Amino acid sequence: MKISLAPLQGYTDWVFRQAYQKNIGGIDEFYTPFLVLQNDGIVKTAHKREVEPYDDKCNNLVPQFLCGSSEELSFFEAYFSELGYSKMNWNMGCPYPMVTKKGKGSGLLPKPNKVEEILEKGFHNKLKLSVKLRLGLLDDTEVDAILPILKDYNISEIILHPRIGKQLYKGTVNLNRFNDLYEKYESYLGYNGDIGCEEDFKKVKNLFPELQHVMIGRGLLKDYWLPYKIKGIALPSSDIRRNQLKNMHNDIFKLYSSYLQGDTQIMQKMKPFWEYFSSHFENEKKVLKAIKKSVGIKKYEQAVEFAFSQQLKVDKG
Ligand SMILES: Cc1cc2nc3c(=O)[nH]c(=O)nc-3n(C[C@H](O)[C@H](O)[C@H](O)COP(=O)(O)O)c2cc1C
Repeated sequence: MKISLAPLQGYTDWVFRQAYQKNIGGIDEFYTPFLVLQNDGIVKTAHKREVEPYDDKCNNLVPQFLCGSSEELSFFEAYFSELGYSKMNWNMGCPYPMVTKKGKGSGLLPKPNKVEEILEKGFHNKLKLSVKLRLGLLDDTEVDAILPILKDYNISEIILHPRIGKQLYKGTVNLNRFNDLYEKYESYLGYNGDIGCEEDFKKVKNLFPELQHVMIGRGLLKDYWLPYKIKGIALPSSDIRRNQLKNMHNDIFKLYSSYLQGDTQIMQKMKPFWEYFSSHFENEKKVLKAIKKSVGIKKYEQAVEFAFSQQLKVDKG
């Protein structure tokens, strides 16, 4: 069973992934947040940093992209394979209207013919292509017409988040619909969605015992040791975990400081990081508030000191 880290734009960038792998570990495969090809035919620098240089970024990494045309698919296939990657992931799940209106992300799910046309003209089997998708954009049966096409075109793996795009992240995951597809596709399907603790994982694993791949996102950001718990790896002591958290934070801060210009830019990255990181601490709301209201690096450092003076949450082992 492979446990992967879901891509979360703004949270699981290369800086986070690098620090996590160095300080915590337990994840078998990482996915980049989606890359896009801009109208001018260029991949922007921030997106390039996710995958380049290969030697620095490649470790168990699957680059992800958004695309709505065969040209874009061909572009990404050539780009990633030239860099040295052997896998790539097509995002057909993004639910945001800015993306779906352009016929990308889950905007492709009501258009099986379009998906087929893109694959027919744009995919040359240079590397393994997997797809991350939802059940549909507006309707949870749209996926039924998409999956047979993906199988026909030699898509290596499907990762299904059983919500529809219209839901965004609201409501619950639809395990009944996942089950329908699991009965048909079994280990070809990977599961993603709402695994926040070991019990959530067990529930999914019991329902779908043939699963080969479970992808976790927000659950990991709130509990860095969730993969340990899922895999039955003994947790480090509380003192060690506190140090690991400190080192995570310090490495992330250092990496951002190494290439961003000025305190404002660094704070724009560090503050969102705490939205999830704070949940490792007792008094997480107080911790987050202190971070959010700090202005300038000095005050920020004081807020960080305050956070690390708090107990770690007991339920985190
Ligand atoms: C802030 C945020 C950013 C996300 N960015 C991406 C992305 O770049 N690519 C993608 O495929 N999914 C993205 N997702 C969806 C997640 O990968 C995942 O499918 C979703 O959070 C459900 O899994 P979870 O409940 O384990 O977090 C994002 C989700 C959130 C909340």
